[in-house]
Amino acid sequence: MYILGIESSCDETSAAVVSMEKGERRILSNIVASQIETHRLYGGVVPEIASRAHIEAISSITYEALEVAGVSIGDIGCIAVTSHPGLIGALLVGVNFAKSLAFAHNIPLVPVNHVKAHVAAAYLEYAHLEPPFTALVVSGGHTSIYSVSDYTSFEEIGATRDDAAGEAFDKIGRVIGMPYPGGAAMDKLAYEGDCEAVKLPSPAIVGDTLDFSFSGLKTAALNYINGERQKGREPNHADLTASYTRVIVDAIIKKVTLAIDKTQTKRLVLAGGVAANSHIRGALERLCKKKGVEFCKPSLSLCSDNAAMVAAAGYFEYLRGNFAGTSLNASALDED
Ligand code: KG4
Ligand code: ZN
Repeated sequence: MYILGIESSCDETSAAVVSMEKGERRILSNIVASQIETHRLYGGVVPEIASRAHIEAISSITYEALEVAGVSIGDIGCIAVTSHPGLIGALLVGVNFAKSLAFAHNIPLVPVNHVKAHVAAAYLEYAHLEPPFTALVVSGGHTSIYSVSDYTSFEEIGATRDDAAGEAFDKIGRVIGMPYPGGAAMDKLAYEGDCEAVKLPSPAIVGDTLDFSFSGLKTAALNYINGERQKGREPNHADLTASYTRVIVDAIIKKVTLAIDKTQTKRLVLAGGVAANSHIRGALERLCKKKGVEFCKPSLSLCSDNAAMVAAAGYFEYLRGNFAGTSLNASALDED
């Protein structure tokens, strides 16, 4: 079955066609129009500008996705759209567009949770992957650990109590002069510094919980930067980035180790934009090897926001019969 996926939850407008059947998971097209250059001028995503940019791009991106896939709208068996969570004005563009298309062509419409879609990216690259497994979603908006019991049922077993890992990278990246979003540049810079140089607090909540907290780490790093600047010197960016990355990686390893022990899982799925971080990928790879756990880490293009992952998640919602009516609305919240 061909599924058309539509994604507009933040600063990427994306449309994709995937072919999903029992035994087949194939991406026919996955077109992403990034707004990053526009938002970079402001040092972060400006919600209203994001909505307007989605409006401009969404029709042409969708037609391109159909054209590249070599299919017409009549071949599409289901339209899957990100309906939550995200920026409300941005989500509304995708939801309304998908509703209109589904209504005009009499195609079933399926709403998709963006976080579940990130996890579904792994199905596209690991053809044999099936639940149950444990998933770690690290993105600009989320840092959560899920116990995934079937394709559509997720139990959140750990989460950040405040900021997400991506926000933490982007915030410090911005303060040390990196263009938005700073995550990828910090990934590279961390190789050039001493990861023991700056003492920073761990974002892992102490104890038997699987929760994180990044706000204390962010504040500590800001205080360190400001303290150095007040003394008339610029902190060593590479040392700070290496130390910052190290405490984040250590916290993730600590909590994922605990999650593996608690759930006795045999598979770990990594997802979300921050899953592109090479230090996190490397450390989790080593951990999984040590624990005898299969590690499923989608390639970088499927980690950041894209509509192929939305279509993949949508397929399983379709099989469940989770269709939307014409009153489908978007929601900023991560509530199913
Ligand atoms: O999943 P995503 O595309 O958007 C959300 O749903 O939030 O994630 C975007 C986040 C940004 O914070 C960006 O800085 C971060 O992913 N990111 C990285 C890397 N590449 C992207 N963070 C750390 N290391 C990277 N290599
Ligand atoms: Zn995302």
